[in-house]
Amino acid sequence: MPGPGYYWIGKEEEQELLDLIRARYLFRYGDEKDPSFKHRVKTLEQEVCSGFGVKHALAVSSGTAALIVAMAAAGIGPGDEVIVPGYTFIASMSSVIFCNAVPVLAEVDESLTLDPKDVESRITPHTKAILPVHMIGNPADLNALKGIADKHNLLLIEDTAQAFGGSYKGKRLGTIGLLGTYSFNIFKTINAGDGGMVVTGNEDLYKQAFAFHDQGHFPLRMGVEVGNRAVIGQNFRMTELNAAVLLAQFRKLDKILERLRTLKARFKRQIQDIAGLEFRRINDSDGECGTILTVLLPDRKSADAVAERLNTTTVAHSGWHVYNNMENILNMRTLNPKNNPLKNQHYKGKAEYRKGMLPQTDRLLERAINISVGVVDAGLGSAFGINLESTDQEVDRQAERFRTTVESIL
Ligand SMILES: Cc1ncc(COP(=O)(O)O)c(C=O)c1O
Repeated sequence: MPGPGYYWIGKEEEQELLDLIRARYLFRYGDEKDPSFKHRVKTLEQEVCSGFGVKHALAVSSGTAALIVAMAAAGIGPGDEVIVPGYTFIASMSSVIFCNAVPVLAEVDESLTLDPKDVESRITPHTKAILPVHMIGNPADLNALKGIADKHNLLLIEDTAQAFGGSYKGKRLGTIGLLGTYSFNIFKTINAGDGGMVVTGNEDLYKQAFAFHDQGHFPLRMGVEVGNRAVIGQNFRMTELNAAVLLAQFRKLDKILERLRTLKARFKRQIQDIAGLEFRRINDSDGECGTILTVLLPDRKSADAVAERLNTTTVAHSGWHVYNNMENILNMRTLNPKNNPLKNQHYKGKAEYRKGMLPQTDRLLERAINISVGVVDAGLGSAFGINLESTDQEVDRQAERFRTTVESIL
């Protein structure tokens, strides 16, 4: 069930953890004068900043926390609409709801990421932000989305949970919008069980994000700044335990991506001439992560039949990432009904949630099958495929199995 980083957990992670446990500094803050306190959370942030060419990075406790912190820093709140794709993990919507704002669902295009044309048609006077999701490793159409955000004076926040390390036109994903967010849960490019990060080039937003994630404190607090805390925050801090594992994983990132891209290219080469088979559009073929190879069958019937024979499902039936299958969002089930953002007195819009409301997305997802390359996850519909450790022979065997299955059905 894991993502790519899991397969390469090894002696580097073990060593970082052992050093940390021996020094006993498990909290983000410690005695800066003690050389055995290695402030690994801060080091991780610094390494991501220099590796990704972004000014500020803030490590947090999860990808969901990263979205909440980013949106809180950007001032998203009651009455605001945030445009999100109907094909994403529920956190892209639930984090908006946590901020008392309203997710507005939009279509994805053949890249299975936000369709810019549909986004533009959903802009209202209440729209505050666009949240592209670089779904299963593929960069969203950022040029077009950034153009729309600039034209309508909207915030662009990149949900990069599923594409850590990927890039778009030479820039790392997450660093192109006003803010970007990452997740380090078990399904992601690198992982520490859980964890997340916010990145931004804007210093004020970084300070706001830091304060919100750490009970109102200034960046890199050394003590409790009683009397100086600017805002009421929360605790979304990352621990040194997570950062220890992530430091070791981050130092392997480019090698993980290289391996994923090599494996994916080998698999794709062997199935690309199958008559009637299409592939989802990749918005930057050098920058996509290569975690999943998504194929499109001619119609729903053939896709269902192929999926069944491969013991997997089409994306439409995969469960977790399709708006049609999110009963809690479709019925806006907030724990306290007063927190329903649609009923907030500041909300004047008309957002709705209904099965079948995104026909273009539905038609694409019912024809789509996700072949795992690095993320093996039935919830994503990628139960069939290969993984980071697959040998060339295994790749060839699975590609052949795929080919004979499709050819027997089409
Ligand atoms: C697109 C997307 N956004 C946000 C998240 C939330 O990340 P986390 O599980 O680390 O909270 C995920 C996690 O799967 C995701 O796939």
